[in-house]
Amino acid sequence: MSDPRITIIGERLKEISKIVAVSSGKGGVGKSLIASTLALTLARKGYKVGLFDLDFTSPSTHIILGVEGLQPKEEKGIIPPQVHDLKYMSIVYYSGEQTLPLRGADISNALIELFAITRWNRLDFLVIDMPPGISDATLDIIRLVKKINFLIVTTPSKLAFETVRKLARLLAELKIPIIGVVENMKIKDSPFIKQQVECNDLNFWGEIPFDNKLEESLGKVDRLLETVFARELKEIVSENLKL
Ligand SMILES: Nc1ncnc2c1ncn2[C@@H]1O[C@H](COP(=O)(O)OP(=O)(O)OP(=O)(O)O)[C@@H](O)[C@H]1O
Ligand SMILES: [Mg+2]
Repeated sequence: MSDPRITIIGERLKEISKIVAVSSGKGGVGKSLIASTLALTLARKGYKVGLFDLDFTSPSTHIILGVEGLQPKEEKGIIPPQVHDLKYMSIVYYSGEQTLPLRGADISNALIELFAITRWNRLDFLVIDMPPGISDATLDIIRLVKKINFLIVTTPSKLAFETVRKLARLLAELKIPIIGVVENMKIKDSPFIKQQVECNDLNFWGEIPFDNKLEESLGKVDRLLETVFARELKEIVSENLKL
């Protein structure tokens, strides 16, 4: 029997113009930093933006944004709180400080529930911080969110790109659009990733250098947006992301 909540999800996401899932083949490549900074950058440009942290294993956008003690409001569903001009929703509101991550069917259920109850209303962009790689949660999100677009983050390493190749192949099989690939934490000049991206018929959006100042700006949004990291990302977004 189909879950009635799945029909509700379509309704909940109906007024969102573009959904961007910031994803990667492997962990630790900068997804959360890019998802948060992308959302903030778009909001500062005047767009209506939501940020949804769905990384069940290590939610971290609340730390990047410096969000403390917020709780979403319940009103015929859940209204995401407004944080630095964003509508912000995170799995952390529900998992809290719990050390044991959700597993198996509990993840699917939590995902369905979160998508079914969250009232984003009208948005230009919804940015999702995805769990790393091709997990069950990734597949569930793809199944639940019909209009999803993937933005893939990789580091300059061959090891990272190898996992991107697999993710890209899977998304192509599922006919899910990949809008671009960003190379993050670049430390030396090398055309390797750009070449690989292009010979896999993907759009190379650009590169972001390794930025020593990033760590001290975590939790301080104004400082974060002043970093080289954020300025480079802003440029990449202006050139490549269309509503
Ligand atoms: N361009 C960069 N320069 C310097 N440090 C960076 C850069 N991008 C990300 N980092 C740092 O690398 C670490 C991993 O970044 P982040 O948590 O955003 O990755 P992630 O892909 O979301 O990881 P996970 O898979 O664990 O969710 C963080 O400490 C972050 O501050
Ligand atoms: Mg993360």
